[in-house]
Amino acid sequence: MTQFPPTLERSTRILAIETSCDETAAAVVENGRTILSNVIASQTDLHAQYGGVFPEVASRKHIEVVHAVVQQAMNEAHLGYDDLDCLAVTRGPGLVGSLLVGVNVAKGLALGSGKPLLGINHIEGHIYSLWLDEAAAEITFPVLTLVVSGGHSELYLMREHLHYVHLGGTLDDAAGEAFDKVGRLLGLPYPGGPAIDRAATQGNAAAFRFPRAVPDDAYNFSFSGLKTAVLRETQRFAGGRLPVADLAASFQAAVVDVLVSKTAHAAQAYDVAAVHLAGGVSANRALRRAMGEALAVPVRFPAPVLCTDNAAMIAAAAHQRFLAGERQGLDFDVLPSWQMA
Ligand code: KG4
Ligand code: ZN
Repeated sequence: MTQFPPTLERSTRILAIETSCDETAAAVVENGRTILSNVIASQTDLHAQYGGVFPEVASRKHIEVVHAVVQQAMNEAHLGYDDLDCLAVTRGPGLVGSLLVGVNVAKGLALGSGKPLLGINHIEGHIYSLWLDEAAAEITFPVLTLVVSGGHSELYLMREHLHYVHLGGTLDDAAGEAFDKVGRLLGLPYPGGPAIDRAATQGNAAAFRFPRAVPDDAYNFSFSGLKTAVLRETQRFAGGRLPVADLAASFQAAVVDVLVSKTAHAAQAYDVAAVHLAGGVSANRALRRAMGEALAVPVRFPAPVLCTDNAAMIAAAAHQRFLAGERQGLDFDVLPSWQMA
């Protein structure tokens, strides 16, 4: 009998669909690590006129484009459904109408192809975006992951795959939400996060001293007071010209300080081997720099395209669940408020 070395074992290929918010995405990932295709149709331009995501508009747009996005992901991967081992879809948290589109399309494809389907938590997807990298083979536990996105600012301790200890999270606004709201106050284009990141490079982070809310209780965050402080400062300039770059840089510095200090504290307390950053805000350059400088352990973050919503991360998480032997019937429903741990 021929013995194949482990590297020659048959690979696992997963097609994942992600429609939890305003990105219609599909991707095919091999072995939870190698991206064969990663298609993202963003609705950002559509929602810019409302200054935020308009849920009803988002779900209608998902319906219009989801089939083309899935088809493109399969074409770019040069695969047919017979070549897949499993399908995966984001089940929650997210906007109910948006989630329903992805979940129902995925169920139809699973039924038609006879392949198993796994419903995945969106936050778990962000966490597994760090495994979409050849260097992932070197990841050792325990790992501390800071997930900072439009909907979440959460700290998770992972001692092994698929097990999470929730150390803390935001008590009010998520970090990305604060970036988006402050972006609007400063008259910057939507979404505010990347616009503030850019504006801040021209500004002085010490121009304004905004509050750093560091709640005493464990590893929780609070950003609503900071947002109000920026609002008050902008009101002082009513009728005059806003120092947008200085305000952006000073606000960003306050967010970064709080995220870095809580993460550094947790990293030390739990003696982790590495810190991972994930979610849209982990694309922020000031955050990446400050986190790398403040921590004694390696800090890893995804490529920018994998920070914001995508389906490759959903496939990466599904890969771990598939390997663990998880299989699901097709009778599951969306979970818009799904708490992961
Ligand atoms: O992970 P994501 O695509 O969606 C959610 O799951 O919420 O994150 C989107 C959020 C938005 O609030 C956006 O403003 C923020 O990520 N974001 C950034 C940057 N790029 C995206 N925030 C700060 N700096 C950035 N460079
Ligand atoms: Zn997300």
